[in-house]
Parts: sequence; C-alpha cells; structure tokens
Amino acid sequence: MARMRTKRNIPARMERCHERWFDAPLLNRGKWREACGFAEDIPLWLEIGCGKGKFCTEMALRHPEVLYIAMERDASVTLAAVEKAHELEIPNLFFIRGDAGIIENYFAEDEVDRIFLNFSDPWTRQNKPKRRLTYRDFLNKYKVMMRAGGAVEFKTDNDELFDFSLNEFRETGFVLEDETRDLHNSVFDAENIRTEFEQKFADQGITIKRVVAKML
Ligand SMILES: C[S@@+](CC[C@H](N)C(=O)[O-])C[C@H]1O[C@@H](n2cnc3c(N)ncnc32)[C@H](O)[C@@H]1O
Repeated sequence: MARMRTKRNIPARMERCHERWFDAPLLNRGKWREACGFAEDIPLWLEIGCGKGKFCTEMALRHPEVLYIAMERDASVTLAAVEKAHELEIPNLFFIRGDAGIIENYFAEDEVDRIFLNFSDPWTRQNKPKRRLTYRDFLNKYKVMMRAGGAVEFKTDNDELFDFSLNEFRETGFVLEDETRDLHNSVFDAENIRTEFEQKFADQGITIKRVVAKML
C-alpha cells in the first residue's frame, strides 16, 4: 500500500520542484541556459540516465561554474534527487524527464559542452546494440549537440559494452583519453564520484571501466 501511495504522489511531488524539473524538454531546445537562468557563456554538462542522482548532485556541487542538466526517462527513479536539489537549493542542477532516443529534439547544435554516461543499460543479453547509448547513431547526435572541444565521459562495469563503445567512439571520429579498465585502482580514482550502480558493482568485486572520448 505504502509503495502505491508513493507512486501516486509523483506528479504532486514533481510539481513542488517544478522550477528545476523540466517535463516538456522540447520547449527549451536551443535555450537551456536562458531557461535555467544562466549566461550564454556558461558551460553546460549533460548526464544521460542519471538514475537516483548521486553523481549529478555531487558534480553540480563540485562545479558551481557549470550548468548541470541530468536526464532520466523514469521520473520515479529520479524524484528523490530532484527533491534533494530543491531542498538544498543547488543553483546549477536541473533535471529533464526524457528519452535519449529523441535527444536531438531536446538539445540544439553546439548547445552542450560535456556528456556523462554512467552505467548505461548494456543491452547485451537482448542483443540490441542499436539501443546502447554509445551506438554510433547516438554518438553522431552527441557530436552535433556538443560545442568544439566537447567530450563524452563513459563508465561501465560491462566488458562487452566497453569494447563495443571504444570501437563506436573511434569509428565516429572521437579521440580516446584517460582509458582504464580498473578505475578504482587508477590515478583517476582520486577525482572519481561513484554512482549508485558503480558502488553496487564495486561491492561485488567487479572492476569499473572508464574512458573520455573527445571531439576533434
Ligand atoms: C543502469 S541505470 C544507471 C543509473 C545511474 N547512472 C548509476 O550509475 O547509478 C541506467 C539508467 O538510465 C536510464 N535510461 C536508460 N535508457 C535511457 C534513455 N534512453 N533515456 C533516458 N534515460 C535512460 C534508466 O531509466 C536508468 O535509470
């Protein structure tokens, strides 16, 4: 019963946080900085599939100089993070309910500076590589959305997805940097923020793969 009550409350809870939660993101295509009250020269970082939101919350707090937008297609997963950002009044963190499958409808050309993909669904068991957020059709869309010097930061627990993604990045003209197959035992760990899924995998002894793919 309690679970159902919580779910029914989603619209009302979202409404209370409406100024940092965009349920109709198409309307802001090409004007996200203005919509969030930021100047045009402020960097915009976008996380796709933010889940419960630990990573985006810590990133936004760590980088107050950046407008951080976290996107998630399942509102019920992200609700607590939206409420936390609202309560803590984190000024540079905003959320979008949306599906990356139509991301070109949410962001215009040259609008984004950096994209974060953390533990994206691997689609390995279903053998549907075209649904992976690092499939080349997605990467080509990201390239259009990103400004010169942009980059995609990608983390996963899944070896098959990681190998696939490295190939897709290369095939679409990205340059790969800071690659590691054991992030938590690498020099990059000092700066790393663990996501909810990342901690779960680490607790199971699974090593975390990570790469930064830069646009030329
Ligand atoms: C495996 S979870 C990882 C969550 C979080 N990034 C983490 O590391 O803890 C993947 C998340 O991506 C979201 N997601 C998957 N495909 C998506 C899409 N096409 N558009 C938006 N979100 C998506 C899912 O709803 C889910 O919350």
